[in-house]
Order: sequence, then C-alpha cells, then structure tokens
Amino acid sequence: ITIRPATIDDILAMQNANLHNLPENYMLKYYMYHVLSWPEASFVATTTNEVDDIMDQLVEEEEIDDKLSLPKEPKLDPSYIAHSGEKLVGYVLAKMNDDPDSQDTEPNGHITSLSVMRTYRRMGIAEKLMRQALFALCEVHKAKYVSLHVRQSNRAALHLYRDTLAFEVLSVESSYYQDGEDAYAMEKRLALDQ
Ligand code: ACO
Repeated sequence: ITIRPATIDDILAMQNANLHNLPENYMLKYYMYHVLSWPEASFVATTTNEVDDIMDQLVEEEEIDDKLSLPKEPKLDPSYIAHSGEKLVGYVLAKMNDDPDSQDTEPNGHITSLSVMRTYRRMGIAEKLMRQALFALCEVHKAKYVSLHVRQSNRAALHLYRDTLAFEVLSVESSYYQDGEDAYAMEKRLALDQ
C-alpha cells in the first residue's frame, strides 16, 4: 500500500470510493476545490492491480466477508483505477476552514471525508491517511486545530478519531445528517511534535 498526496487525476476514483463507502457524497468540483486549493492536505492510499486481484481472490476463496457476516462488496468499477496499474483503496479529503463568516481567530483545518475500501480495512490505512493529513494541515497551513463530524452510530470511525487519534467530542449536532441522525462534532488541537 502506498500513501501519497492526492492529485487532480485521483478525484474521480476518490469520488467513486466515497460513493461506495458513505452516504455523504459530493460533486466532483468539490473534490477539485480541495485538491487545487490545498494540494498538500488530501491523501490517497493505493495498491497495484496485481495486489488487488490477489486480495479479491483471497476474499472469494476464504469467504472472509461471510465469516465476518459483512455484506458482499459490489464488484469494483473500472474507474477505480486512478492511474494505469494503480488502484485507489482509501482517501482522506481535507481542507482549511475558509468560511469568511467564521468567528474563528485561529487558522483551522477540516476533515471533509475519509474512507477505506472494505477489503482493506483494519490494516491501519485510515490512521496513516489521517496522520498525514493532520501533519500537512499543521506544517504547511499552520492549522492550530482540526475539526470533523461523525455519525453517532459510526463505531469504527469514532474509535479511530477518539481512541487512536485523540480527537475530542465538542458537541452533538442534532439532525446534522440528511436522514436525521445526530453528529458528534469533534476537534483535535495540533502541535508540530505530533
Ligand atoms: N471497530 C472498532 N474500531 C475500529 C474499527 C471497527 N470496525 N475499524 C477501525 N477502528 C479503529 C480502531 O481504534 C483502530 O485501531 P486498532 O486496529 O489498533 O484497534 C483504528 O480505528 C485504526 O484503524 P484503521 O485500520 O486505520 O482503520 P480503517 O483503515 O479500517 O478505516 C474507517 C476506518 C475509515 C472508519 C473505515 O471503517 C471506513 O471506511 N468506514 C466507512 C466510511 C466511514 O465511516 N468513514 C468515516 C466517516 S466520518 C468522516 O468522513 C469525517
């Protein structure tokens, strides 16, 4: 698995992964806005097609999904191929907060979206993507803190943010999501030594 900064050539594959993994989806121009405005802040995790084929085979042969009683992942769309021979398996879409009406006195970043394809979960990929994004927001953009929203029911993501990455829950935002679910608004202060 390779973790590298996202480029404009990755945005279609990022959008595809997002559509697979999350109900919160964005127009392509919003990905473009992130990657063009803060080119250092968003990252992708990629693998080779060969490795992905082996992973696919392993899943089929050992029926990992069945053992874990997870729903079968739909067959990957060919447009997952970010660059020839390379397949996107995860991404983090990050930005600086640039709302002119914001009352913030300090520069601060925001994690818009994070996801990892099901076959590649629990391998530390999301943690690595997040650490790269947090470091870049702090180092390059001088963010003093980073915020994000997560569904209250999203145990995996909540564990990752709170327990692994030491984000704090700031508040509960009622009916934040379109289906009416509440969100935890989370924040993490950044320091260069992290
Ligand atoms: N149950 C409990 N804790 C979990 C789980 C899980 N299923 N998955 C990850 N974690 C936590 C653990 O604390 C884990 O540390 P550990 O393995 O040492 O115990 C830590 O997260 C790091 O795990 P990673 O392997 O780095 O996480 P992964 O690559 O599997 O990705 C993610 C986690 C992104 C939440 C993945 O499950 C996913 O893509 N889910 C669907 C999309 C999603 O929910 N994205 C986040 C939405 S919020 C937002 O975008 C701002």
